[in-house]
Amino acid sequence: MLEPRTLAMADRPITLAVPKGRVLKALVPLLARAGVAPADVLGDDDDRRLVRELPSHGLRILLLKPDDVPTWVEYGAADFGVCGRDVLLERGFDLYQPVDLGIGRCQMVVASKASLSGGELPDPPRIATKYPRIAAAHFAAKGVQAEVVYVQGSVELAPLTGLADAIVDLVETGETLRQNALVVREVVAEISSVLVANRAVYKLLGDRGRALVSSFAAAG
Ligand code: PRP
Repeated sequence: MLEPRTLAMADRPITLAVPKGRVLKALVPLLARAGVAPADVLGDDDDRRLVRELPSHGLRILLLKPDDVPTWVEYGAADFGVCGRDVLLERGFDLYQPVDLGIGRCQMVVASKASLSGGELPDPPRIATKYPRIAAAHFAAKGVQAEVVYVQGSVELAPLTGLADAIVDLVETGETLRQNALVVREVVAEISSVLVANRAVYKLLGDRGRALVSSFAAAG
């Protein structure tokens, strides 16, 4: 349980940055197990407030775009955050990661057309991705200097249209790859959502920070 009494005794609420959208839906049951009512986080359909105050838990929740969560935490504008390992890896954030929440599980993969002629990527390959740093590092580690093309979405179209030889992207169910006649060639990394904290802020929070980490670890 989040310890309402411990947290309420502190002089300011603990700020937790969470991603709006898909991960928030998965996070809500976990928060519920930690004692935070889903309605307190989600509100109703018309609720556009981006801050949710939970004074009985000494907690304040910020609703952010998923990619922005670590930025808030790195600058100390949020004490804790929930974000995907993909974002941490891509942007090189150095945040304390005390709990793997076991939600938002997927894989970062290299995928190409099922019908790739000869079966091998050309050398150097051209790779389309929303994750240029992860893609470049993956190929560089194999001694391949990939040409990386940054795209923001519909990445799966790239090999089908000649923009790239392959993609580096997230796969959850595999349905998007399947419906676009692409196959996984390699798994780059296992991805999930983690609880992160600003290292300096975490030290300053002391017992209050440790109590929040314990409540997430127990709820996960
Ligand atoms: C992600 C990812 C793939 C898709 C994979 O995109 O980039 O396109 O999900 O999921 P699947 O394996 O279950 O089909 P998302 O839907 O998050 O949209 P985005 O491209 O805007 O990030």
